[in-house]
Amino acid sequence: MADLRINLAGIVSPNPFWLASAPPTNTGYQVQRAFEAGWGGAVWKTLGDPIINTSSRFAAVHFNGQRVAGFNNIELITDRPLEVNLKEIYETKKKFPNHAIIVSLMVEPKQEKWHEIVKKVEAVGVDGLELNFGCPHGMAERGMGAASGQQPDLVEAQTMWAKEAATTPVIVKLTPNITDITSTAKAAVRGGADAISLINTINSLAGVDIDTWHTIPHVGGKGSHGGYCGPAVKPIALHMVADCARNLDVGVPISGIGGISNWRDAVEFMLMGATGVQVCTAAMHHGFRIVEDMIDGLNNYLDEKGLASVSDIVGKSVPRYSDWGNLDLNYAVVAQIDTETCISCNKCHIACEDTSHQCIDRLTDENGATYLKVREEDCVGCNLCAIVCPVEGVISMVEVAGTDAPLTWNERQAAIAKLTDGKDSNKKEAV
Ligand SMILES: Cc1cc2nc3c(=O)[nH]c(=O)nc-3n(C[C@H](O)[C@H](O)[C@H](O)COP(=O)(O)O)c2cc1C
Ligand code: SF4
Ligand code: SF4
Repeated sequence: MADLRINLAGIVSPNPFWLASAPPTNTGYQVQRAFEAGWGGAVWKTLGDPIINTSSRFAAVHFNGQRVAGFNNIELITDRPLEVNLKEIYETKKKFPNHAIIVSLMVEPKQEKWHEIVKKVEAVGVDGLELNFGCPHGMAERGMGAASGQQPDLVEAQTMWAKEAATTPVIVKLTPNITDITSTAKAAVRGGADAISLINTINSLAGVDIDTWHTIPHVGGKGSHGGYCGPAVKPIALHMVADCARNLDVGVPISGIGGISNWRDAVEFMLMGATGVQVCTAAMHHGFRIVEDMIDGLNNYLDEKGLASVSDIVGKSVPRYSDWGNLDLNYAVVAQIDTETCISCNKCHIACEDTSHQCIDRLTDENGATYLKVREEDCVGCNLCAIVCPVEGVISMVEVAGTDAPLTWNERQAAIAKLTDGKDSNKKEAV
């Protein structure tokens, strides 16, 4: 069995699976049950100044039979008194000294406010702090959460203020509601962050009831934007994690969050640079015990790969993620259909005919039976037919040996610039 322990910027935990700051980590009772179930760490539900929550605050996007394809919430930070939370954190840490307890914090962007809360929380014995600059609703209207997390200057200053008072590692949790996530990641690093975590939730409106015309959810007939998370956001989160991981100016450990539902998702985030992962929606949907399968699955995966430690996979796919301009324009794949296993549903033909490159022919064999064949010389390798095919493995995308040497767009443009020496733009066009 592989070693699943992680060390994220000095925070150690028995495995890489942490519960994210959210309803599952609201109380000591819950966090202790989570640790008993096997979670390696927990980021306590965000502490800050007292708030009032609305009733009716969650909604899910059901898609094609999946109950929670996406999850939307308009909940704010903890609505329990700070003293109660601190007492429970102290008791939980005492009972579970080897598990990671990180406490999420959100206060007004004022130096004294950050100093005060950091000192109070660290006094009860925590393994680290997470600064919540991501909550997209309610707190943002008060200048906190995403409102301050969207401004690099404020991210930097607040991180610095927290760091001035902190003795434990400080993780900065980033909002995805921004064009370039690396701008705030770098700001956090300038402020002294020991690590970053991402993503928090994405601005969203779960839906509109077409009979009552109310928003989903609504609070007495009115709705507001919420935060989106769950499986639907995973590709967005994964990209943002990868973007931070490959940016040399970020350069701090990453805690990956967003749509992680099983060990496979966790492995993907770790391959893309996350030292560990955090989970919220999947735990809310299925309960704490999902971590058992996560641990088993990760162990089996590492054993099959012959890896001794989970840290061996961290960042392994990062060098394979780049800008579009660095992709080889001469690399080519084509679709091939296995007529033996094809069920003749015709979906691929329609997809290619209506919305791609019209290169799947319907042919008739010597017995009069129709079959499909890809005209490889016209296939652009878009993958659409393989995506829509309902039978796994019937359509394979096969690499075609090219005659031209690899050439990226950037290399091509550089070659053109050299040829024209940057003097004659008309000549450039002609090339
Ligand atoms: C109901 C709910 C409440 C949340 N509250 C907080 C919070 O208090 N602090 C915080 O940093 N993130 C909060 N989050 C965001 C999660 O910690 C996490 O970043 C997000 O849900 C993405 O992970 P997931 O796709 O696994 O759910 C909340 C999420 C949900 C669904
Ligand atoms: S890969 Fe794209 S272009 Fe090629 S056959 Fe399939 S749908 Fe058509
Ligand atoms: S979509 Fe798949 S199963 Fe359907 S006709 Fe095409 S190859 Fe056959």
